Amino acid sequence: MAGTSGVESTKPLLRALAGERLDRPPWWLMRQAGRYLPEYREVRAKAGDFVTLCLTPELAAEVTLQPIRRFGMDAAILFSDILLVPRALGQRLSFENDGPKLEPVSDSASLGVGDMAMLEPVAEAVRRVCTGLPDRTALIGFAGAPWTVATYMVEGGTSRDFHRVKTWAYRDPDGFAALIERIESVTREFLSLQIEAGVEVVQLFDSWAGVLSPAGFERWVIAPTRRLVTALKARFPRVPIIGFPRGAGLLYERYVVETGVDAVSLDTAVPSDFAHERLQSLVAVQGNLDPILLLVGTDAMRRAVEELRASLGSGPYVFNLGHGILPETPPEHVAELARILAEPLHRS
Ligand code: CP3
Repeated sequence: MAGTSGVESTKPLLRALAGERLDRPPWWLMRQAGRYLPEYREVRAKAGDFVTLCLTPELAAEVTLQPIRRFGMDAAILFSDILLVPRALGQRLSFENDGPKLEPVSDSASLGVGDMAMLEPVAEAVRRVCTGLPDRTALIGFAGAPWTVATYMVEGGTSRDFHRVKTWAYRDPDGFAALIERIESVTREFLSLQIEAGVEVVQLFDSWAGVLSPAGFERWVIAPTRRLVTALKARFPRVPIIGFPRGAGLLYERYVVETGVDAVSLDTAVPSDFAHERLQSLVAVQGNLDPILLLVGTDAMRRAVEELRASLGSGPYVFNLGHGILPETPPEHVAELARILAEPLHRS
């Protein structure tokens, strides 16, 4: 797994994802561009609403670069959203104070096939970010995995119990499969468009992978992810794919083995010894500091970061959080994290 492949690239993130173990593991943070940064809030206010911000290339590129300028992460993640895919499928999307709102779908025939022109501004944002990025910083593109996107489309927003979407999936699996396939095909084209515009890595966010039964996980998380990975690998064999099946628990291992992802992002609950023994022998791992520890800062954060680096740093590893950074996080804590991560690992 380690070996010569990483030598071609000097970007630390790409080397780690190719299976190399680095003395100073690369890092970035999920939701690193966002409301905890005053400079983000300023641009966000100027844009008016969130969807406009995502679809105005100049502004999306600007907020993508903000955390890199301030903290020097090893990767920028394109500023965008997983819910642009339902919007391209014809669903109305808005963001209110309590999160995203969509007009719930109950029949995939009511959707379009996907209007790729609606996603073109994202490609333009990628091109702009590429011109502003330091040489050693990688650019990550992303999409939601089909199951997670389907939960928002069917529930009409964030859900507590996933009642509607699970009812559909269990009662009418073939009808639900048609919805999943439609999301899958737009997602494949959306990620291809990002890669063609210049992203070097893609991450699939399956934020609600953990709410399904094992059989549901196989059909709605693993199978669509495997099909996406296979299709993207055929088109772009050199672009690494990071999967994030949040909450998958014991099923993390099957996810890695059966989907073919190059790396897996760990949620906060995944134990380091399990990750090291069962996952890191197969792929690079990314994660999984509790976002609350970044908010708390202090010695509690330092200790947890050092423990993670000691346990996962002995294999191919990308430091990250177990989920997105919280809006209340003091930016100084991220600066302190950057200082800790700049220290080389002590080899044992
Ligand atoms: O990580 C980054 O910095 C890149 C940008 C990014 C956003 N959303 C911007 C955003 C990424 C990678 C996402 C992914 C995303 N979007 C996911 C998967 C990751 C996860 O958090 O589980 C999901 C489920 C969504 C859907 C979504 N978008 C929700 C549920 C919300 C509301 C919650 C919230 O934090 O307000 C959003 C809005 C959103 N997406 C914001 C940002 C910065 C906040 C919007 C604002 O500025 O008001």
